[in-house]
Amino acid sequence: MLGCLAPHPPHVVYAENPEQNEAFSEGGWETLRWGYNRLARKLKTIDYDAMVIFTPHWQTYIGTHFLGLPEFKSKSVDPVFPNIFRFNYDISVDVDLAEKMCEVAGDSGIITKMMRNPDFRIDYGTITSCHMLNPDWDKPLVTISSNRNAHYYSPEVMNEQASALGEACARAIEESGKKVVLISSHSLSHRHFVTESPLPEDMSREHIYNHSQYVWDMKLVDMMRGGKMREVIDIMPEFTEQTIAETEAGGLTWMMAAMGFPEYPAEIYGYQSVIGTGNLIAAWDPREATREIVL
Ligand SMILES: [Fe+2]
Repeated sequence: MLGCLAPHPPHVVYAENPEQNEAFSEGGWETLRWGYNRLARKLKTIDYDAMVIFTPHWQTYIGTHFLGLPEFKSKSVDPVFPNIFRFNYDISVDVDLAEKMCEVAGDSGIITKMMRNPDFRIDYGTITSCHMLNPDWDKPLVTISSNRNAHYYSPEVMNEQASALGEACARAIEESGKKVVLISSHSLSHRHFVTESPLPEDMSREHIYNHSQYVWDMKLVDMMRGGKMREVIDIMPEFTEQTIAETEAGGLTWMMAAMGFPEYPAEIYGYQSVIGTGNLIAAWDPREATREIVL
């Protein structure tokens, strides 16, 4: 089980100009894209059965939902950036694994549901992270929704619920006998610009927006390098509130709980601002033989 922190600004897909996206760009955000390209090459060298992704942009208010049909095919349009992201997707789902996770999580007391609506539209977080990690789209996915615990209750409750879900998903994966790549799809600090530059990929306009947010992000990167993931999750409520981070959805907590809160160093693949938000690409490779110091 290898874990990836994979931010999903649609800008990076736009900048890559894949055939599935209707918009055309002149590039941009290379620091992030080159980092993603390198991690995607590493994943090509690993034998695994499915990608399991937790996304903050499939938000559910009653329980945690799992994609539950073998194929979803449609167009995903970013609600905030329709000018840069209109992506024609055709994804396959590992329904057996999704059902197993749903069952094991349900047995542990978590409210769960399978998504069986064939017209359900896949969120751009799932598409962006999965496209950047595997542009060939040759692995089935399991997508997990984010229950809005931080909104209903508090980031502390989110942390507890997402940990329980992560532990349940890990048990389901173990029982299935499958090898998976876990993906936590989100940026770190999330304070962003309120106006868009005329040309979105104009890199002369891209910069860190707020020094305090940047310092928070770098603190987390240092802790990740130092193998302090238990401590990172312990300060997650404070980090989330101070930086209005997408960690509020629970993705990083879920992934770290599933991986047993790694005490080994994370691989760091890149950090860059996208419209002012802090985006870090990182991976947790439990195998010492293949774990690298990337940056
Ligand atoms: Fe997002």
